[in-house]
Amino acid sequence: MRRILVIGAKGMLGRELMDILHSSFSKDEVIGWDIEEIDVQKEDESVMKIEALRPEVVIHIAAYTDVDGCELNPEKAFAVNAEGTRHIALAASKCRAKMVYLSTDYVFDGEKREPYLESDPPRPLNVYGHSKLKGEQYVQQWVEDSLIIRTQWLYGPFGKNFVASILQQAREKEVLSIVDDQAGSPTYTGDLARAVCKLFQLDVRGIFHVANSDFCTWYTFGQAILKLSGVNRVKVLPISSRELCRPAARPSYSVLNCQKLKKETGLTMRPWSEALKDYLSTYRQSLS
Ligand SMILES: NC(=O)c1ccc[n+]([C@@H]2O[C@H](COP(=O)([O-])OP(=O)(O)OC[C@H]3O[C@@H](n4cnc5c(N)ncnc54)[C@H](OP(=O)(O)O)[C@@H]3O)[C@@H](O)[C@H]2O)c1
Repeated sequence: MRRILVIGAKGMLGRELMDILHSSFSKDEVIGWDIEEIDVQKEDESVMKIEALRPEVVIHIAAYTDVDGCELNPEKAFAVNAEGTRHIALAASKCRAKMVYLSTDYVFDGEKREPYLESDPPRPLNVYGHSKLKGEQYVQQWVEDSLIIRTQWLYGPFGKNFVASILQQAREKEVLSIVDDQAGSPTYTGDLARAVCKLFQLDVRGIFHVANSDFCTWYTFGQAILKLSGVNRVKVLPISSRELCRPAARPSYSVLNCQKLKKETGLTMRPWSEALKDYLSTYRQSLS
């Protein structure tokens, strides 16, 4: 029996991951902590608490994920995403535990214009991306047995996300303006959580890109959400990132190449449109 600790267990991905871990790893002890149990910003407390638990695996997915919030509050972004990750990495190394860390496509600047490989040099455009990249570097520096999973554009049944927001706005407005100059791959948390479990079960190490396949813009994604939900009366207009004028810059192209995942684990991620269809049909009731 292994002791698996998930930090960030009450977030959008965390809740999905906890469900899947409990059902797939029933022989193991799965423990979920979030901000109430551990504030990753506090070094001594975090390290002591984890050391006392002695987990064999630490899955660290807690983060300050508000990208514009990070831009306006860089101290908090670095305290949680970078230093917080250093504290968890330090604790994992003291316990000789395997550490899994969730990172982001926003470590890239989008200039490549073709899907990013794990080996491509990162160059974040915003504070969130910088703070998550620093987190990656701490994990690599401190933990011998580490797995870094970069993903993007998450949505799922738990927490705030683009799908829920579009459906909410469609109930209130007749016209929606959506950004059409950023391309990426919308990724369903259920698919990602299953891939995370498979990856750490296979005991692979290093950086892996994991996202649903194919790509689109937020505008195309928005159109698909409305179409698949049977909403016809709302008009959708494409706009530019400049028109939206958000505090944090985003890469215009941050599609992740997931070939390494396929080559080393045999795992393929289904197209985002298929995952979205599945998600909307499963959760139609709760979203309406
Ligand atoms: N969402 C995306 O599109 C996306 C894309 C790429 C990568 N990722 C990465 O994937 C992971 C999961 O993302 P998510 O969207 O599921 O995140 P989320 O819903 O924001 O969940 C993160 C969890 O971490 C908790 N947390 C925040 N600060 C903390 C602290 N100081 N100590 C302990 N816990 C703290 C949050 O609590 P509160 O809610 O109370 O703050 C929340 O429960 C993150 O590492 C994120 O960077 C996400």
